Amino acid sequence: MKVLGIETSCDETGVAVYDTGQPAATALRAHAVYTQIALHAEYGGVVPELASRDHVRKLLPLIRQTLDEAGLRIADLQGVAYTAGPGLVGALLVGAGVARSLAWALEVPAIGVHHMEGHLLAPLMEENAPEPPFVALLVSGGHTQLVAVEAIGQYRLLGETLDDAAGEAFDKTAKMMGLPYPGGPQLAALAEQGTPGRYRFSRPMTDRPGLDFSFSGLKTQVLLAWRDSDQSPQTRADIARGFEDAVVDTLAIKCERALEASGCNVLVVAGGVGANKRLRAKLDVMTRQRGGRVCFPRPALCTDNGAMIAFAGALRLQAGQHEPAQVKVTPRWDM
Ligand code: KG4
Ligand code: ZN
Repeated sequence: MKVLGIETSCDETGVAVYDTGQPAATALRAHAVYTQIALHAEYGGVVPELASRDHVRKLLPLIRQTLDEAGLRIADLQGVAYTAGPGLVGALLVGAGVARSLAWALEVPAIGVHHMEGHLLAPLMEENAPEPPFVALLVSGGHTQLVAVEAIGQYRLLGETLDDAAGEAFDKTAKMMGLPYPGGPQLAALAEQGTPGRYRFSRPMTDRPGLDFSFSGLKTQVLLAWRDSDQSPQTRADIARGFEDAVVDTLAIKCERALEASGCNVLVVAGGVGANKRLRAKLDVMTRQRGGRVCFPRPALCTDNGAMIAFAGALRLQAGQHEPAQVKVTPRWDM
């Protein structure tokens, strides 16, 4: 089954074609992401109305480009999947409207996908993908969750952030130190030049049992350290390193606890912060030491993309799931 995936929940227009009839290595026939970063940069964050308008401009050309790259005609599509939430309502409606219209015209089924389920399943598109059960760490700009994946579609929340998401903490901390939007990857790059150990911030909520997170206090610690510092480029890098180490350690400690609690040895990591190199290295060591393994999607499939939506939608459509032909989105939605 060849399924078109459309992602427009925030500031990335993502389109992909996933073909369930192909082996894992070639099933992702093509995928393309257009990022609106430059558009929102001068405002220091995503402006919802501008995001919707840019999706309107970019989505149809991107669909055409993706089909060309896949060597397919539009009539070859057998299903259309789109992000139905959570996300910015206007942005979601652009994807939903185009997806539903296309599906209606082509007389194929369409399906709305939960954005975080897309992230969660993205690692399963890679070769040597694990089979459930496994533990998943979802770390994006809007979510930080530990989830027990018992089967595809069967998810149990083990813990989540009580305030900021990990990516949000990266972005806000970066902004505080004067780094341009989107700060997360910039802060991570800066941390590469930082001296480990010069600044040490706390590992929030690791000194008590439980699998929940809290990152907003960490942001305040960094603010105070930055304000009291000489604010030189080296100090900025050193603080970035201290912050990154604190977030990475905290995530790793909770992941290990979740593996222990669930009696499972396979960890899957998804969402934008999953692109963080130090997090990848740390979780790799931790899981190996336990005799298990960690699976990540390639970095391009960690951040928002259409491939994860095509894949999650294809699994649901193959399982026979149907939905009424209406354009409906759910901006706030628990998985
Ligand atoms: O999954 P995603 O693309 O969008 C959401 O669904 O939120 O995640 C974006 C988040 C942003 O907060 C961004 O700063 C963060 O992921 N991020 C990173 C890195 N790359 C992206 N955070 C830390 N290190 C990175 N290398
Ligand atoms: Zn996302």
